[in-house]
Amino acid sequence: MTEPRRILGIDTSCDDTGVGIVELAPGGRVRVLANRIWSQTVHAQYGGVMPELASREHVERIDDILQDALREAGLELADLHAVAATSGPGLVGALLVGLMYGKGLAQALGVPFYSAHHLEGHIFAAASEANLQTPYLALVVSGGHTHLFDVPAPGSYELVGATKDDAAGEAFDKIARLAGLGYPGGPAISAAALRGDPHSVPFKEPLQGQKGFDFSFSGLKTAALLAHRAGATPENLAASFQQAAVKFLVKTTVRAAEHLGRRTVVVSGGVAANAALREAFGKTGLNVVFPGKGLNTDNGAMIALAGAAALQKNREPSPLTVGAEAYVPLANTSKTG
Ligand code: KG4
Ligand code: ZN
Repeated sequence: MTEPRRILGIDTSCDDTGVGIVELAPGGRVRVLANRIWSQTVHAQYGGVMPELASREHVERIDDILQDALREAGLELADLHAVAATSGPGLVGALLVGLMYGKGLAQALGVPFYSAHHLEGHIFAAASEANLQTPYLALVVSGGHTHLFDVPAPGSYELVGATKDDAAGEAFDKIARLAGLGYPGGPAISAAALRGDPHSVPFKEPLQGQKGFDFSFSGLKTAALLAHRAGATPENLAASFQQAAVKFLVKTTVRAAEHLGRRTVVVSGGVAANAALREAFGKTGLNVVFPGKGLNTDNGAMIALAGAAALQKNREPSPLTVGAEAYVPLANTSKTG
């Protein structure tokens, strides 16, 4: 292949309608040309995502978001060489919207279609643009996931640790709601934390003394509830919780990196946008790679990057019979590598 190829990616796994376009150069370098996201606000009044409302809003928005992405990239549909869409994990009704849309588009354009794993997309969001070579560790921290993978070779994922209860982002969201800071909680906690004292509320480190590399946030959540009842201010609660959560995430990941002899760590997913987390990882001495701007939280460009990896590897396109799946493990089930 001597010409650059352009790949469209769609993610509608939860409450963001994401459409992105990336360019794959003949040598394998990738570049994000467009990344348009419609973040649904309808859920704010419920303090969490309402699946049926999410599906309906994806249907209403996806056409416009696609047109926005094409405009941003300065392209037309006929300029696309492949289409990728998330098939799971996620909310099935929401996933179906983007998946069916992507399949239909690929078929109409006569280009290959690739289904993508949402978590692999999050990892590619950081790894691809940095042109990262394996081996590396990948920490995916989002509203639905807290997973630590070892990636010894392209497309090979070994689960090293995972949360035993809440996901990291979920804990940010729940504690923000408790403190009356709004939804989504991650950015709200991070903003309030700037005005709070991180030492004001004592949080015990979760899973202290564990030999493995798992995560747990339910203890921090309970401690936050008790502190809130005892009169901790939202700012102090935010600052203390954020510091405890960041310390725990970084410490566990660094232990795993040492154990496995890895020097490079990818940190991705919505919580990877957290400035305190980025700063703490920056002090570890490891080579830590974060997604570029707009690529932390759910987006279509990360799925286009997964599609680009598939195209680059000459992977067989996915059959158009592929369905949406609520739960699908990534470990040892690489779809695109
Ligand atoms: O990756 P994402 O968009 O969706 C899932 O796949 O779950 O992640 C959303 C999560 C939410 O829980 C949100 O509160 C969290 O990422 N988040 C943050 C920040 N920005 C978003 N958490 C901490 N600090 C942030 N700055
Ligand atoms: Zn996600």
